[in-house]
Amino acid sequence: MRVMPQFEVSTPQRTYAAVVERGAIGRLPDFLPARHGKLFVVTTEDVWLLHADRVRDALGARPFEVLFFAGGEGNKRMAHVEALAEQMAELGADRSSIVIAFGGGIVTDLAGFLAAIFMRGIPVIQIATTLLAQVDAAVGGKTGSNLVAGKNLVGCFHQPLAVLIDPAVLLTLPEREYRAGLYEIIKTGVIASEPLFRLLAGERDAVLAQHHHVVDHIIAESVRVKAEVVSEDERESGRRKILNFGHTFGHSLEAETHYTGFLHGEAVSWGMRAATYLAHHLGMLEAVDFQSILAVLDRYGPIPSVHGISAEALQSRLVKDKKTIQTKVHFVLPVRIGEVVVRADVPPEPVLKAIELALADCR
Ligand code: GLY
Repeated sequence: MRVMPQFEVSTPQRTYAAVVERGAIGRLPDFLPARHGKLFVVTTEDVWLLHADRVRDALGARPFEVLFFAGGEGNKRMAHVEALAEQMAELGADRSSIVIAFGGGIVTDLAGFLAAIFMRGIPVIQIATTLLAQVDAAVGGKTGSNLVAGKNLVGCFHQPLAVLIDPAVLLTLPEREYRAGLYEIIKTGVIASEPLFRLLAGERDAVLAQHHHVVDHIIAESVRVKAEVVSEDERESGRRKILNFGHTFGHSLEAETHYTGFLHGEAVSWGMRAATYLAHHLGMLEAVDFQSILAVLDRYGPIPSVHGISAEALQSRLVKDKKTIQTKVHFVLPVRIGEVVVRADVPPEPVLKAIELALADCR
C-alpha cells in the first residue's frame, strides 16, 4: 500500500488531521479519544450495505450503534436531526459519546450538525465516502441542515476529531456522483492550484477511469488546499470565501429546481460557468483562461439540461443566498487560473447576461 499524505487543519476550535490514504478507514481507532463513551455511526443504508465491513473491521471489538438516515438533499432537514438525536438519547448517549459520520456530503453535514448540538456538542469523526465529501464537504467543520427557504440556512462550525478519506471507496460510486465531485476539484484548481487545473485538463481519461495515482493525487491536492484555506480562515470572514466559487450561482439553481434536478456538484459546475462568463464580461479574465475554464467544464460534462429554467428567476434567488449580506451578492470571480477575487459591487445587468449565457450552454 502506498502511503498517502495527511494534512493538518488548524483552527481556533481544534487542530486535526485530514488523512488521504487507501485504507484510511482502518485508522479510525487512532483518532478516538483514549476514554470515550458510546460510538454512533450515522450513515445511509446504501453506504452501509457497500462498506460496513470497513468500519466493523476498524472498530474490532469496540461496540457501536448504527443510525440510518434516508439521505438525499430533500432529507437534509431539522426533523431528521431531531429524530437521530432522539434515537441517540434512547440508546443511552451522553457527553462522552462520539458520532462517526459515514457517507457523502449530506451525511457529513447532517451528522456533524447532530454532533454539534447534541448535549451542546459532542465530538464527530468524519469518514467521507463520496468524492465531493472527500475533497470539500467533510473537511473544514461546516455542518448544517436545509430550510424550505434555502440550502444550509441552519448550521454551525463544528470541527471534527479527524477526517478519513479512503479513495478506494469511490469504486462503488455511481459515475454521475463521481463526476459531480470532480467539479469541486475543478473549482479547487481554478481558485488556488493551477497545476491541479492543468492536470484535470490534460488527464481526463485517466481521471474518469479512476487511475489510482491520478485520483489519489487530485484528492490529496484538493484536501491540501482546503486544509490551508480553512486553517487561515475558519469562519469564512476572509479567504475561505474563495471556496464558494460557483456556489452562489449554483445554490440558486439548486433552490430553483427544489434540490431535485441537480447534484450539488453539477449545480456548482453550472455556477462556475456563470461566474466565468461574468468575470470575462467584466474584463477581469483574459480570453485564454476564460476559454480554458469553459473547456474543462465541458470535458467533464454534461450536466443535466437546464432547459426551461428562467434566468430572471435564478437571478432573483441570488439575493436569498446566505452569502448575500444586506442584499449585496458576493461573487467569487476568476482573474486567472489559480486565482480568484471576491466582488460585492457587480451591477445586475452583467449578472443576468452571464446567467443567460451559462443557461444557453447547458440546454
Ligand atoms: N464548501 C465550502 C467551505 O467549506 O467553505
